[in-house]
Amino acid sequence: MNNLIKFIEGLPKAELHLHIEGSLEPELMFELAKRNNITLPFKDIESVKSAYKFNNLQEFLDIYYQGANVLRTEEDFCDLAMAYFYRAHRDNVVHTEIFFDPQTHTDRGIPFNVVMNGLLAGIAKAESELGMSVQLIMCFLRHLDEESAFATLRMAEPFLDKITGVGLDSSEVGNPPSKFRHVFAEARKKGLKLVAHAGEEGAASYIKEALDILGIDRIDHGNRITEDHLLLTKAARSAMALTMCPLSNQKLQVVPDLRNHPLPYLLRHGLRVTINSDDPAYFGGYVNDNYKALAKYCDLKADDFIEIARNSFLGSFLPDQTVSAYLDVLDKYVDSF
Ligand code: ADE
Ligand code: ZN
Repeated sequence: MNNLIKFIEGLPKAELHLHIEGSLEPELMFELAKRNNITLPFKDIESVKSAYKFNNLQEFLDIYYQGANVLRTEEDFCDLAMAYFYRAHRDNVVHTEIFFDPQTHTDRGIPFNVVMNGLLAGIAKAESELGMSVQLIMCFLRHLDEESAFATLRMAEPFLDKITGVGLDSSEVGNPPSKFRHVFAEARKKGLKLVAHAGEEGAASYIKEALDILGIDRIDHGNRITEDHLLLTKAARSAMALTMCPLSNQKLQVVPDLRNHPLPYLLRHGLRVTINSDDPAYFGGYVNDNYKALAKYCDLKADDFIEIARNSFLGSFLPDQTVSAYLDVLDKYVDSF
């Protein structure tokens, strides 16, 4: 087991499901609150951490949106991003595709370009200092209406060459993918990649809608695809990637006992599953902690983790040549271990 843990830690990998706002550690939250003269509803870091107990997705989202309130300036967004990149780099993440939620910020008066410029400054630093590759995915909040998503897409217009794709997150049940069919069609016309959270709390029919109506390129979570065998086999045949997040699933009571996590079953059924951290500051672990949690609770061997790491590159939005180069790095690591 110890050898497997070491092997996992050193595996070169990509992270494809990470909300940058969900990487805001309590320590940085306090630092930014002080910098921006904001009074937090917590007296210290320990009381923040003890508030992180969730019965469902909504209980988490309420706290997560509140936490984001300390982010005000370009420097704040840059510091937030850099803290994540340094941490991910330690986990041997060589490529990452990060989500950001512009509406969480623009709705409280932070201009879109403050968010973008801050994140882009962080990304430039990660690329030059750490040698990582980074892509940005702009998520629409699904509890808001489609018009608000359109307004966000219009704000993003000057930055579209810096944004790889759009996604869909926030409260899933009651906000099906079809609610956003027009804005996703518009994003596709602009050449953006499409992803959506689906089948985290929502039924398999939400995954089907995301695939058939939105035409997504990748599924975020997708746990409940196990409930529709036809959909599962179709997704496997089309090499559709799933960005799964075990510790998130455990903390949000999607899969309270990780021994029941669907990832091994989906892997055996040929799905392109990947392991990611979602909102690591809130769920108690970065990407390697997520790999290790499945190593501990599920019947997965070194070969399975190699396949999962391969999937992380194959499921990425990198050009084919870059994917091949990363797969070579992965193969060299496996050979030399
Ligand atoms: N926003 C941040 N994390 C999320 C998750 N796990 N599901 C839906 N929306 C989110
Ligand atoms: Zn997520």
